[in-house]
Amino acid sequence: MGLLDGKVAVVTGGARGLGFGMAGRFLEEGAKVVLGDVLVGEGEEAAAALGSAATFERCDVTVEADVADLVASAVARHGRLDVMCNNAGAIGVRGSILDIAAEDWDATMALLLRGAFFGMKHAGAVMVEQGSGSIVSTASVAALEPGNGPHVYGTAKAALVHLTKRAALELGERGVRVNAICPGGVATNMVLGLFGAGDANADQVEQIEQMMAFRPPMGRAGTVDDVSAVAAWLASDEASFVTGQAIAVDGGESVGMKWSLQAVK
Ligand SMILES: NC(=O)c1ccc[n+]([C@@H]2O[C@H](COP(=O)([O-])OP(=O)(O)OC[C@H]3O[C@@H](n4cnc5c(N)ncnc54)[C@H](O)[C@@H]3O)[C@@H](O)[C@H]2O)c1
Repeated sequence: MGLLDGKVAVVTGGARGLGFGMAGRFLEEGAKVVLGDVLVGEGEEAAAALGSAATFERCDVTVEADVADLVASAVARHGRLDVMCNNAGAIGVRGSILDIAAEDWDATMALLLRGAFFGMKHAGAVMVEQGSGSIVSTASVAALEPGNGPHVYGTAKAALVHLTKRAALELGERGVRVNAICPGGVATNMVLGLFGAGDANADQVEQIEQMMAFRPPMGRAGTVDDVSAVAAWLASDEASFVTGQAIAVDGGESVGMKWSLQAVK
């Protein structure tokens, strides 16, 4: 028996990184999964690698019609939708608040906040009709700690947590749970890119993970599996009384500095 036997899940940003990991975990737990991503070649390869219960659709989450089509295609293929993971993302515009251009602000907010809203809206409509469903959005530790991450990224993720709570308030009585995960640093392409190591080899990834291990009290970087396990649990009926939550999966980073580094003990 898997945690997600018989369930149908959509995962945006499923071609790589955390989304690909979530899709793999959901499949192991018995779900059927539809991946959405702007990376068509990689998305198709990802679905093929995951097996016959996974399919891929091109979807740009900043375009409402794409998200609506992704949801509709999962329902057309599998007859229902139980889990919607609003996960697609990128670091977006960086730099000083004095320099950020309006169009870069808009593009980053469209990807990280509006895209998740479209997922909640269109998957939510199907789930309300069904009377059940779980929406899980990937926020970030940057939503919980203003000192972590670029200005617009952190602002969008904090707003995503707030939107998660708002949606949970509305949809709870209609059987739909809405939660967010706030991962700490995981060495995906997005993070490797921040270290200037987009095509990093295993040694470089290990070095970067060692640098990221500095902050969390658990003394290590996060992994895709750490995040996927929590996503699978939130998606499942095991979490049937959990809604409106932003669950940090960050080795304790958002709680504070690890004891061994604290000056006053
Ligand atoms: N890796 C981390 O340390 C970390 C920490 C906290 C939160 N997150 C969040 O996790 C999510 C996944 O990031 P990741 O670390 O796996 O990065 P990643 O770069 O490995 O994967 C991101 C995926 O999103 C896709 N994507 C980007 N723009 C898209 C769009 N407009 N429409 C559809 N797909 C799009 C990319 O093509 C890619 O496949 C993001 O929302 C990110 O902000 C990551």
